[in-house]
Amino acid sequence: MKIHILTLFPDMFAGPFADSIIGRAVDQGLVEIDIYNIRDYTRDKHHVVDDSPYGGGPGMVLKPEPMFEAVEAVKGDGEVPVILLTPQGRLFNQTVAAELAGREEMVLVCGHYEGVDERVRQHLVTDEISIGDYVLSGGEFAAMVVVDAVVRQLPGALGSEESVGDDSHSNGLLEYPQYTRPQSFRGWEVPQILLSGNHAEVERWRRGQSLKRTAERRPDLMERVALSDEDKELMARVEREEI
Ligand code: ADE
Repeated sequence: MKIHILTLFPDMFAGPFADSIIGRAVDQGLVEIDIYNIRDYTRDKHHVVDDSPYGGGPGMVLKPEPMFEAVEAVKGDGEVPVILLTPQGRLFNQTVAAELAGREEMVLVCGHYEGVDERVRQHLVTDEISIGDYVLSGGEFAAMVVVDAVVRQLPGALGSEESVGDDSHSNGLLEYPQYTRPQSFRGWEVPQILLSGNHAEVERWRRGQSLKRTAERRPDLMERVALSDEDKELMARVEREEI
C-alpha cells in the first residue's frame, strides 16, 4: 500500500509513524508512507498557501493552486482516492478503515485554517472523512488516526492475524474483558472460566461479555448487529444478570 499525505506541517508525522505497528509495517515494506509539504507546490516567491475569504470574514482559506498541483504531482494514474480530512466529512469508523485497507494507494489531504477553497472539494477530492464531531486545528492528527486504523489491518502488520478479528468494532461489538497473570491481584481474581481450559465455554463467555458490554456502553451499536439464536440466549442471561 502507498499512502501520500499532503500537509503544511510535515514534521508532525515523524514521531507517530516511526514506532510501534506503523513503524514496523513501514520497515517490513507493507506500506510506504510519503509526506509532502503543500508549500513546496506553490509557484510564487513567498510560497503563499492561504488567502482571506471572498465575501469577508475571519481566518484564512487554503488556496486551490498548491493543493491541485500537489495532488496531481504525487498520485499515480488511475483511480486513486483523494481524501480530505475535515469535520464536514463522513464519520470514520472500522468499516471505513477496512474499506481503505483494501486500497493500493490513497492521498490524504490535511486541511488547516478556516478551511479549503470549495473548488478543492468539488473538483479534486473524491472523499471527505471526519474522525469525530469535534474540531481539530488541522487534519494532521486525523490523518494519523486514519493511517493507524488502516495499517494495522494490513495482513502481517500485527503479530498474529487473530488480533485484528478480536478488536473492538471488528465484529460490530466492543471487545470482551481481557486478563493476564497474576491470577490473583490485590484480591481481585481472574474469572474462573478463563482458567478452565474449556475453549468452547471461554468463547461463549467472551461473546456474552462482548454483548453485555456493548449493550451497556453502546446501545446504538446493538441495533446494527445481527444476533444469532445463541446470542439472544446469552442476552437473556445478561438481562437475568447471570452474566
Ligand atoms: N480537521 C479538523 N477537525 C477534524 C475532524 N474532526 N476530523 C477530520 N479532520 C479534521
